[in-house]
Amino acid sequence: MTHKEVSDAGAPKKQVTVTINGKKYIANQSEILLRVAVREKIAIPHLCYEPSLDPYGACRLCMVEVVKRGKKEMTASCTLRAEEGLEVVTDTPGIVKYRNILFELYLAEAPKSEVIKTMAARYGVTKTRFLKKIDTTDSLGNKCVLCGLCVRVCNEIMGAGAIGFVNRGPYTVVNTPYFEPTRDCYGCGACVKVCPTSAVEMEDVGDTRVMKSWSTTTVLLAQCSCCGTYYAPKGLAISIMARLTPSLKEEIAALCPACRGKRIAREEILAGSGGAGNHG
Ligand code: SF4
Ligand code: FES
Repeated sequence: MTHKEVSDAGAPKKQVTVTINGKKYIANQSEILLRVAVREKIAIPHLCYEPSLDPYGACRLCMVEVVKRGKKEMTASCTLRAEEGLEVVTDTPGIVKYRNILFELYLAEAPKSEVIKTMAARYGVTKTRFLKKIDTTDSLGNKCVLCGLCVRVCNEIMGAGAIGFVNRGPYTVVNTPYFEPTRDCYGCGACVKVCPTSAVEMEDVGDTRVMKSWSTTTVLLAQCSCCGTYYAPKGLAISIMARLTPSLKEEIAALCPACRGKRIAREEILAGSGGAGNHG
């Protein structure tokens, strides 16, 4: 299968041929092997790979066997880069055994996660020999596998640093410092979006966004002056708007995206009919 992509500068990316399970595929030089597999619809289970963040190989589910100069070794496919002649196998008996133990561990770590149950079952694992970690007070509903994506997106992309790992060892959880509501949270919901096990919960109640998983941190929402919809966390809108021109800032502060779109369309129509009248 051919695959063509261009670099940010618009130049075609250098391409290499990699072999996955005995079949050859075209990839970009240094492309993440897991990305190639996903594109080519080759099943490799993975939890902690998020394209907007640098891969860091936390969940270990995406292990593959690499054949290098006649030697075989296991490595995480989310940190493996494509290079000419790279050969990998995704399902050796060793990988299957390793992956199954991981699934058992995740079934114990996140016993209420339907995502984990479904993934594990797809690979034939439906039970765990490890003690299930059920905590009725867990704000992540016993669904968190501690992959760290929510912490990283909050810190590295949003620059908020509102949540982090709390406690140590088997007691480690993700939450706000001291399990208290935090002012550092924008209420952007990026943590909800990146969580692979749907563990993070938030809810909009009137003019307030409640980050249920993060010590019930609350964030005020901006309201559209036209339709009345609460459409974005106020603090986030203000921080983004600081970079806009005063008129655009004013408009975005007042209108939700839908009403803004309607206003622009209305102006276009008026401008069009005005123009026709002038010519008529
Ligand atoms: S809440 Fe979700 S994203 Fe955050 S560490 Fe747990 S599983 Fe990962
Ligand atoms: S996706 Fe590769 S280690 Fe998690």
